[in-house]
Amino acid sequence: MAVARRTGLVGAPLLVVAALLSGCAEPTRLSVPAEWPFDLEATPAVARDGMVVTADRYATDVGVEILARDGNAVDAAVATSFALAVTYPTAGNIGGGGFMVVRLAEGTTAALDYRETAPLAATRDMYLEPDGNPGDRSLYGPLAAGVPGTVRGLWEAHRRFGTLDWAELVEPAIRLAEGFEVHPSLNDGLTALARRIGEFEPARRAQFQGTLDQFLPGGVPPAIGTVFRQPDLAHTLRRIAEQGPAGFYGGETARLIVAEMKRGGGVITLRDLDRYTAEWREPIVFDYRGYTVISMPPVSSGGATMAEIANILEGYRLDGMPFDSVERVHLLAEAMKRAFSDRNTYLGDPAFVRMPLPRMLSDDYAAERRSEIDVAAATPSSAVGPALGPVDHGSDTTHFSIVDRRRNAVAVTTTINTGFGSLVTVPGAGFLLNNEMDDFAVRPGSPNVFGLVQGEANAIVAGKRMLSSMTPTIVLDRQQELWLVTGSPDGPRIITAVLQSLSNAVDYRMSASALVNAPRVHHQHLPDRIVVERGGFSPATLEGLRALGHAIEEESSMGEVQAILVSPDGTLSGAADPRGSGLARGLQSL
Ligand code: DON
Repeated sequence: MAVARRTGLVGAPLLVVAALLSGCAEPTRLSVPAEWPFDLEATPAVARDGMVVTADRYATDVGVEILARDGNAVDAAVATSFALAVTYPTAGNIGGGGFMVVRLAEGTTAALDYRETAPLAATRDMYLEPDGNPGDRSLYGPLAAGVPGTVRGLWEAHRRFGTLDWAELVEPAIRLAEGFEVHPSLNDGLTALARRIGEFEPARRAQFQGTLDQFLPGGVPPAIGTVFRQPDLAHTLRRIAEQGPAGFYGGETARLIVAEMKRGGGVITLRDLDRYTAEWREPIVFDYRGYTVISMPPVSSGGATMAEIANILEGYRLDGMPFDSVERVHLLAEAMKRAFSDRNTYLGDPAFVRMPLPRMLSDDYAAERRSEIDVAAATPSSAVGPALGPVDHGSDTTHFSIVDRRRNAVAVTTTINTGFGSLVTVPGAGFLLNNEMDDFAVRPGSPNVFGLVQGEANAIVAGKRMLSSMTPTIVLDRQQELWLVTGSPDGPRIITAVLQSLSNAVDYRMSASALVNAPRVHHQHLPDRIVVERGGFSPATLEGLRALGHAIEEESSMGEVQAILVSPDGTLSGAADPRGSGLARGLQSL
């Protein structure tokens, strides 16, 4: 479908990105603002025999170490996850959950859901205060925690696809828990944690004693360059190495979790822990301009919402629109707000809600949604509703991408929800518990911590999984060969960040670094505004968007994409998002 050109970027330099190209036939021209803080010419890590991109350099090194021992991408993902739980406590975890998308070189695809569940004692209104309003107990303290899924999930991934010994994959994390040198970003994170806990009333602060003892010894974050030791966590990891999931969901670790629940007013029981299962699911698979996108199905909203956005966008020639143009950002925002209104209404745990997924993913439905879009005016969100028809109702996360030498690929996004989760560390066990319960619609119709206004499909029910936006994604090229591995943290912005990494690669033929670095936009239906990254769009473009009726809000950064792109010569390019302090490292770097 043709779209009228509305803005030229008068005076902005045209950047010919031939040097940035990866896997593409023709150079693409981007027009970008003159003063641009986003470096599209950054050099990705390039290697032949494997690539690991994570948010933390220790975790990247662990992944590469496992690949060098000829572990496959799933082995490396298991070891990397455990390492993140030690060196990246803001999001890495054993007290949270996540999703893993796998694509083996021989073609097998799989999606593993190890999302937390609501404890059996959870009830629909458990977070409403006496005045009927949600307080902050779904965010901070032991009551905020869902039943953790990570250890069961990693075990399950290893059981199905792993090749090295389980204990060998946990061992690097044990080593790190015994001590590693504090780097500046960990010090920054723990400084923010100290500030956050300091904001609570002294009585409430007692709930976070385990966290203070473990991460802020003497009341201050460990200094840069000193060795940070987590002996309780090392013990827990040793139990997991020796006993598998029984070392977490039973025995000493389970006993310590339940003791902390009793102490701080949480409700997770031994029974909750014992009955937790990870679920294999059919990935969401959709086509975007001939590329095959493999992503996470519900209880992630990511794959389905991204598919709806992408299917709507397929009707427009984005590659003919300057990157920094009113028309491109307008169409992205219009597609996003429609898909998010469906997401927020219909999606939830497949064990509890019926979802109109085939229709949500269909080209016919995308065409209907497209026909509502006015290329010359923003549709107010109040006029955009969920449109899938009636259904018979029966800041912190982290992503990493790994490809091994055989071209098996793994995309993992894992979380304890906001930074440092519930702020509760299980005393004696040394790990933070998630605050994933806030991802439910704590009161349907009221916004959650990410401003998402969600409905009945995502209301709290005992045993149910809370809806997620995490979108680990693997893309195949037009020959059905592995092409891109991508994903991001950042709540609902995950979906739009991953979608833009896809579009940057397909429509703008960007390199791994460029597709990660390029500035992003976001719209989630409510609140009704486009969020743009500051400095990423020219004043003329922002003015043009306002003239179409869009409210604009600027933020310093959104998402943190960790991506691997396969070049036409078969080499791997890896890029860690400069918005974070991660690292891409290859095996046999070129
Ligand atoms: O699963 C979700 O959608 C959220 N718990 C993700 C939270 C998140 O990404 C926070 N990150 N910065």
